[in-house]
Amino acid sequence: MEKDIEQILYSAEAIQERVVELGQTITADFKDKNPLLIGVLKGSFVFMADLVRALDMPCQLEFMGVSSYGNKSETTGAVKITRDLECDIEGRHVIVIEDILDSGLTLSYLMKYLQNRRPASIEICTLLDKPERRQVEVHPRYKGFAIPDAFVVGYGLDFAESYRNLPYIGVLKPSVYA
Ligand code: IMP
Repeated sequence: MEKDIEQILYSAEAIQERVVELGQTITADFKDKNPLLIGVLKGSFVFMADLVRALDMPCQLEFMGVSSYGNKSETTGAVKITRDLECDIEGRHVIVIEDILDSGLTLSYLMKYLQNRRPASIEICTLLDKPERRQVEVHPRYKGFAIPDAFVVGYGLDFAESYRNLPYIGVLKPSVYA
């Protein structure tokens, strides 16, 4: 896998440090709110696992599945719910946990979908943000790192379902998906 990586953007240690900071901020903001964290599968599973252990308060977890890029590195713009919530979120304080915010199409669709279910509040926590690529407005309250316009893998992020298990976040060599 390493031979396909052009550059390491964030080491496992750097990610861990930032995730702990995010956990402390979210804990301070939601201490008495018993928030429901909704992880967007599959990319957020590693981030979610580390983030919840950095939260020092009661909370619950849920996961949703949305269709993503398939085997390509460009979005199709089509968003489909492939796995729905198993609980009622009405009146709950919801935090949507995402691996990466790119065009914003996925999260903008998901936010509307979740807002229709009348949560008390809803915020986004994304590990990575590629602001240059935005097509629709999305406002994450919590953000790990802003990154340049490059295709990245590792720490849960994939290309064609591979590289999710890399402990760091790296830029994939364009020759891999060209
Ligand atoms: P958006 O709808 O364009 O914001 O894309 C969000 C989804 O696209 C993420 O949840 C990822 O699954 C995928 N994605 C976007 N950029 C990357 C990347 O650089 N590497 C891996 N997946 C990505």
